[in-house]
Amino acid sequence: MTSLKARVVEVVRETADAHSLVLEPAEGDRGRFRYKPGQFLTVRVPAPDGWAARCYSLCSSPVTDDRLKVTVKRVADGLGSNWICDNVTAGDVLEVLRPSGTFTPQSLDADLLLLAGGSGITPVMSILKSCLAGGTGSVVLVYANRDERSVIFASELQALAAEHGERLTVVHWLESVQGLPTESGIRALARAHTDREAFVCGPGAFMDLTTAALTGLGMKVHVERFFSLAADPFETPEGPGPDEPADGDADAGEPGEIEVELDGETRTLAWPRNQLLLDALLRAGVDAPYSCREGSCAACACVVLEGEATMDANTVLDEQDLADGLVLACQARAVGDRLKITYDG
Ligand code: FES
Repeated sequence: MTSLKARVVEVVRETADAHSLVLEPAEGDRGRFRYKPGQFLTVRVPAPDGWAARCYSLCSSPVTDDRLKVTVKRVADGLGSNWICDNVTAGDVLEVLRPSGTFTPQSLDADLLLLAGGSGITPVMSILKSCLAGGTGSVVLVYANRDERSVIFASELQALAAEHGERLTVVHWLESVQGLPTESGIRALARAHTDREAFVCGPGAFMDLTTAALTGLGMKVHVERFFSLAADPFETPEGPGPDEPADGDADAGEPGEIEVELDGETRTLAWPRNQLLLDALLRAGVDAPYSCREGSCAACACVVLEGEATMDANTVLDEQDLADGLVLACQARAVGDRLKITYDG
């Protein structure tokens, strides 16, 4: 069983259309809820024809917060956001997948430029709090919203700015005052910070224009994009285990070998050549992270330490990620006889 249970201990109304859920891992699952700043949870939600899954960034910090928190903003016709905002109350138990994602800084000590639009503040908040509490760098946050009442975490940001002085600069961009963000306006704000890595999350148009502005300045930009999952990732893959023959597939051949590092442990297992890497890991009982299983979210990304793999699809890893050795386990197929990967680090 790869899914986890989390109890809702509190529902916080952040703004008129944004609710935060404070979550407590079920007893025994706590270790599997470890996460990095900027990662997200995949939550199972009821759908008219059964179940669906939606991804929500954690706005809590693994450095400062005992409990996990996700903030969900209501979206017109949004299946998951409306169900959560209308139905979820303290005491409910949610089924989730372990936290995952690559929208996370390599070091908490780096100076960062963070840009958030609306509810895109959620992973950015986790990064910001973690860097201020657990690192030494300084953070500049550019936060765009429709108007003052739409600003999620307004008082928390004010308190952090007061507490951390020059290490945190918050620049609010309010559409009601300055109009919609523009590429030239974002470029002007970023020009003094081009030596920093940038993290961007928000509506598609906001991310497109900020990414264009920052890459135009030669900056390295990390973006977090969410979308509705087509399949139900909570379904366990069916089929033979890694040590069983692949029925009816004469081309399966001799299995390869995977050595996998995860949660500080190393395991070696067989990799049938007709199986995707993630399927082989899950069938062998490895608690590998994943979400979409469509090559679109990077929840399953791991680093190849030895060997080689190809991917059926990849719409999320960029050239730098590939150069860093990242591969999407849900899309990876064996090239040679042996592959060594890590989810740690
Ligand atoms: S699980 Fe989403 S890219 Fe692999």
